Amino acid sequence: MNILTEIKNDIRAVIMPMLGRDIPLAVIETIEALWAEEKRPQIHAKKRTSTGYTFTIALPPGISFKDFYSKLDYFKDSAGGNKVNTSIVQAGKMAVLQISTNLLGNYFEYPRDYPLKGILPVPIGYSTNGLQVIDIATLPHLLVGGTTGAGKSNAIHVIVNSLLRLPEPPLIILIDLKMSEYNYLENQVLLVTDIDTACQALARLVQEMRQRQLLLKKSRCVDIKKYNRHSKMQYIVLVIDELAELKDKDAQEDLETLLRLCRASGICIVAATQRPSSKIFLSKSFGDAKANFSGRLCYQTISDVDSRIILDSGEGATLPAIPGRAYLRIGREITEIQTPYLDPEEVQYVDKFPAAGLPTELPTNRDVEGMGSAGHSANTGANISIVASHPAKAEGFDRKRTD
Ligand SMILES: Nc1ncnc2c1ncn2[C@@H]1O[C@H](COP(=O)(O)OP(=O)(O)OP(=O)(O)O)[C@@H](O)[C@H]1O
Ligand SMILES: [Mg+2]
Repeated sequence: MNILTEIKNDIRAVIMPMLGRDIPLAVIETIEALWAEEKRPQIHAKKRTSTGYTFTIALPPGISFKDFYSKLDYFKDSAGGNKVNTSIVQAGKMAVLQISTNLLGNYFEYPRDYPLKGILPVPIGYSTNGLQVIDIATLPHLLVGGTTGAGKSNAIHVIVNSLLRLPEPPLIILIDLKMSEYNYLENQVLLVTDIDTACQALARLVQEMRQRQLLLKKSRCVDIKKYNRHSKMQYIVLVIDELAELKDKDAQEDLETLLRLCRASGICIVAATQRPSSKIFLSKSFGDAKANFSGRLCYQTISDVDSRIILDSGEGATLPAIPGRAYLRIGREITEIQTPYLDPEEVQYVDKFPAAGLPTELPTNRDVEGMGSAGHSANTGANISIVASHPAKAEGFDRKRTD
């Protein structure tokens, strides 16, 4: 071997894998080694991603997806073994092979410390650039999507618990119509588990938004941020796990109204769903309202179509099948992240958090109706308790903290 070839090989062996440039070559060599020329999978498209490549591969008659999938380890070994993540998913008659350099770890614990920058900071995940802390208040709406088991509810645990530990936590309304896993938060958030209460809570929120808008107008402030320079209005974060369960037309319309109009008034929305298809929404305009989710968190989806619905691009389908792995899209920027894992059973420390503004005295509905400016005096903040004044839920929330 002459010196030039030796240097070339060294570059190939050392530098190219670091840049991920060796991956296409490895894939071609693997296909050539495994299948004879007459009957060989063909690379139909190749796309560079932030950490590797995605190949769309056409399978000829006689090679099933299962056959192709069974060769996953060969692709992994030739592309770098443990230095890469590989996945193969089916997309119609094609197989989508994804190989990415394994710079991003597959598991992170919920961080104990992170910079509490901004108004409602949340450590949403680790990227190859380190921990990404997003400010929910500036989004202010986040759509979380992905297939079952991909990590949506964990993201909600992370978001809610991060908000609760803030020195000035927002009021959190958590709608969980699947009644699955948020009971441990019942003393910390307004937990709503039935559709009737959910409908009323949304109607109340719209009412609250209107009151806030009036108050802002009266105080000549364009938004809550300006208003809070002189006075105090508490942020409200509405969290909905499984949007598709919200099957009531009025509730959906209220949600749409909020999405369109509540930005300035300190009401933020986090909504998670397996597939926010327009079909689950009785109102046709939901597609438009969806554009107000300026934050998107897309875990693995089963199809390109699902990914497009959540992310407005198909990349969610090419994510490796690692729980907690997602694409975070804010504006035009998309970052691959690994959400830290927060085990709800270990969240004992939640009780030590300052009270999340839970109302201890609840006004009656009549008080709320006639509230006018009294309930919204600039110094008492935006009488968030109206949300909890729904009689059905009042009992549950009318309790004083004991710690
Ligand atoms: N970020 C993460 N890191 C490690 N493991 C995770 C992570 N997120 C989720 N998991 C694991 O995957 C399981 C399922 O996650 P989760 O309940 O969040 O999924 P989901 O998307 O809400 O699913 P479904 O749509 O069925 O409600 C968790 O119980 C946990 O074991
Ligand atoms: Mg879930």
